[in-house]
Amino acid sequence: MITLRKHVLPSLLVLVLLSTSACTSGAAAGSPPGAAPSQSGGAPSKSADAPSKSAEPAKSASPSAAVPEQAPASTVDARTVLAAFQPRGMVDHLKALQSIADANGGNRASGTSGYEESALYVEEQLRAAGYAPVRQTFTFKQDGRRGKTVESFNILADTGGSAGHTVVVGAHLDSVQEGPGIEDNGSGVAAVLETARWMKEAGIKPANRVRFAFWGGEEDGLYGSQHYVDQLSQEEIGQTAAYLNVDMVASPNGVRSVHDGDGTDFGHAGPAGSKAIEDIFFRYFEENSLPAETTPFDGGSDYDAFLSAGIPGGGLFTGDEKRKTEAQAQSYGGVAGEDLDPCYHQSCDTIANNDLELLQEMSGALAYGTVAYAMAKTG
Ligand code: PHE
Ligand code: ZN
Ligand code: ZN
Repeated sequence: MITLRKHVLPSLLVLVLLSTSACTSGAAAGSPPGAAPSQSGGAPSKSADAPSKSAEPAKSASPSAAVPEQAPASTVDARTVLAAFQPRGMVDHLKALQSIADANGGNRASGTSGYEESALYVEEQLRAAGYAPVRQTFTFKQDGRRGKTVESFNILADTGGSAGHTVVVGAHLDSVQEGPGIEDNGSGVAAVLETARWMKEAGIKPANRVRFAFWGGEEDGLYGSQHYVDQLSQEEIGQTAAYLNVDMVASPNGVRSVHDGDGTDFGHAGPAGSKAIEDIFFRYFEENSLPAETTPFDGGSDYDAFLSAGIPGGGLFTGDEKRKTEAQAQSYGGVAGEDLDPCYHQSCDTIANNDLELLQEMSGALAYGTVAYAMAKTG
C-alpha cells in the first residue's frame, strides 16, 4: 500500500529548493534532457514491478540503484513535488467538467456545447493563474455522423523562456459522445492545469518555454494534435525539445505506467530523446518509492503526430480496457482480472470513475518532468 505524505511544504520551501539545486547541481541539471544519452548500467528500476514483462529480469534493479549520472534531472525534489499535488486542486477540475457534462447532454465531445464549456473553464483557470490562453481552430470530418464537418480548436498557453527549446505538455480536452469523459481525459486535463498553476505558485521561471496544450478532436482521430504539428514550420519542429502526453491518469483499477520511449520493452521506440523522457518519469517514481512500469508507445493518443515529426515524446498512462494482471494487483492493489478502467468510453466514466490518489501521483510526475525540460540548460 502507498503511504502518502500528509503535509505540504510551503511554496517558499520549493523556491529555496529550486534556487539551491540551481546553484549546486550543475552537472545533473545542466545536461539537456534530449541530448544526454543515458548509460545502460544503472537504468532505473522500471521493470522491477512490471509484471507484463517477465522476459527481462536483467533490467530489474533495487529502488536504491544509482540513477545514471547523465540521465536528465529535474531541479525540484520529487517528494516535494508529490506533496505539493494535493488532490483538492485536481478534484475541483474534475467536478467542474462533470457539471459541464451533466448540463450538456452527458458528454463533452468535440463540436458540442459541452466541449465549448469545458474550454471556457480551462481558459478561465489559465487566466486566473496568469497565463494568456489562445485558441487554435481546425476542422475535421466526423465519421460517425456521415462525414459531417466539425469545427473544433485546441487551447495553447505559454510560459516565458526560450522558444528555441520548447516543451509541449498536452492532454486532450474532448470526451467521447457516449459519456462525460472524466477519467478519459478530465484526469489528464486536471494534471496539466495543476502543473501550470503549480509552476506559477512555486515561482518557477522556466529557462525554456513550456507550452500547455489542450487538444480537441482526439476521440475522433487525434485531429487537434495532428493539426498543431502540421502547422509548425520545420524550424519550429526543430525548436520543440519534447512532447509530454497525459491521457487517462486516474484509472480506478489503474497502474502507474510510462511510455516505453526507447522501445526496449515493447519494440516501438520514439525519436532519440524519448528515452530521456522515460527516465525522468521513472526517476520521480523511484524517488517516491512508487512502483511503476512501461507501457507500449504504439500510438492511439496525441503523441503520435509529434513522434512522426521526429520530436522526442513521452507520457503517463494508468490504463484503459486492458485487464489488470495478478502481478499488477500485487504491485498496485486493485482487482486482478478486471479492466484497468471498467468505464472506458462509457457513460459511467464519471467523477466516481477516478482514483484520486493515483491522480495526485501522476500529476506530480507530470510536473516533475515538465520542470526538468523547463529548466534544462541547453548550451
Ligand atoms: N487515446 C485513447 C483514448 O482516448 C487512450 C490511450 C491513452 C491510448 C494513452 C494510448 C495511450 O481513448
Ligand atoms: Zn478515449
Ligand atoms: Zn483519451
